[in-house]
Amino acid sequence: MTKAPQGSAAPQQTAQRTVRPAVSTAVESAMRRALALAAQGPPHGPNPRVGCVLLDPDGRPVAEGFHRGAGTPHAEAAALAAARSRGVDPRGTTAVVTLEPCAHHGRTGPCADALVDAGVAAVHLAVSDPNPVAAGGAATLRAAGIEVTTGTLADEGEELLRHWLHAVRTGRPYVTLKLATSLDGRVAAADGTSRWITGPQARAHAHTVRAQVDAIAVGSGTALTDDPSLTARTIDGGLFEHQPLRVVLGRSAVPGDARLRGPGGPLLHLPEHDLAVVLGLLAEREVRHLLVEGGPTLATALLAADVVDELHAYVAPVLLGAGPTGVGDLGVTTIGAAARFTTHDVTRLGDDVLMVARRTQPVTNPQPAHARQNGRPSRPTKEEI
Ligand SMILES: NC(=O)c1ccc[n+]([C@@H]2O[C@H](COP(=O)([O-])OP(=O)(O)OC[C@H]3O[C@@H](n4cnc5c(N)ncnc54)[C@H](OP(=O)(O)O)[C@@H]3O)[C@@H](O)[C@H]2O)c1
Repeated sequence: MTKAPQGSAAPQQTAQRTVRPAVSTAVESAMRRALALAAQGPPHGPNPRVGCVLLDPDGRPVAEGFHRGAGTPHAEAAALAAARSRGVDPRGTTAVVTLEPCAHHGRTGPCADALVDAGVAAVHLAVSDPNPVAAGGAATLRAAGIEVTTGTLADEGEELLRHWLHAVRTGRPYVTLKLATSLDGRVAAADGTSRWITGPQARAHAHTVRAQVDAIAVGSGTALTDDPSLTARTIDGGLFEHQPLRVVLGRSAVPGDARLRGPGGPLLHLPEHDLAVVLGLLAEREVRHLLVEGGPTLATALLAADVVDELHAYVAPVLLGAGPTGVGDLGVTTIGAAARFTTHDVTRLGDDVLMVARRTQPVTNPQPAHARQNGRPSRPTKEEI
């Protein structure tokens, strides 16, 4: 099995803030190192990617660590352990951390307590923890007399953690919609054939994205028409080490001999059209990043419901002239009402082009609260694994 690339699903781009906290060069370069360390952690899974660098009183790095995924030490604990294993006493050091140290007992103890116990003198963090379960670390540190500075390279931290932060802030996964279309926006020819519109480089790229997400979804139309396996495969056809949860949305049954039941991630069939309920259920399973590779019906429903956070549009220099388009009627009758996204990145992949575009406005309506009561879906949902 092959490990997936540890980068984010899309190339990173950071915006400069007009006002940055006044931080020393040493702290800023330590935060850049901490962000690079954090990016070495798995991009999938319930936990955030976090990196930590310890600086001595002269601003020299003495130890570092990062979180390698649920059940492993948090970044701060890893950095403290690395210091001690090298015979360095962390007392009086400055901890530079990409996310506010946690204040709760999970599989491991609170990181804020570990930093207090270690005698750390100061903490710089990029992003405050929005998770109500784990937040409060900065307050714990300050109460212990530790100087805490927040917002150091905050934009870079937000970019690295965007899927996780989105899921925690809104209560639903970050939704990436993949569309592979001809130049005239079609996903299949008039006779229904659709393999392959895009070329091998575009398809290989799409597989590296699959290897970085928690779950991948299609509608039952695609499940029945294409019989996809929805695995994350390497160029030579092997399986990446991480295989996302495979989700089929729709009331039609998944055939017993479907490829979706073969080797790969677990299969979850949700016979449900209410997308708020679907996303709520996936959030309860700690899905932070959902990739949707469905056909036009599901793509249109997601866009109409305004739950698409990122578009991956693989466009091939092919003209079909007829056949279904990637997106159906969104109820847009005038150009001013178009669903607009912001271009984040454009990459050439062989003959094809990938445009990554993101939601222009952040989600302001945390949901699926309206669809759930007491954390449970408001109506029963039959699931099949
Ligand atoms: N080029 C590409 O990127 C690409 C990708 C995928 C598919 N395709 C092509 O697209 C075609 C299939 O299109 P499709 O539109 O039928 O596939 P689809 O969107 O994947 O599936 C549609 C089905 O999903 C179910 N569904 C789940 N949630 C829904 C919701 N909120 N609203 C409406 N329906 C929901 C419904 O099935 P139930 O009636 O069972 O509930 C619906 O009939 C195939 O030819 C395939 O090759 C192309």
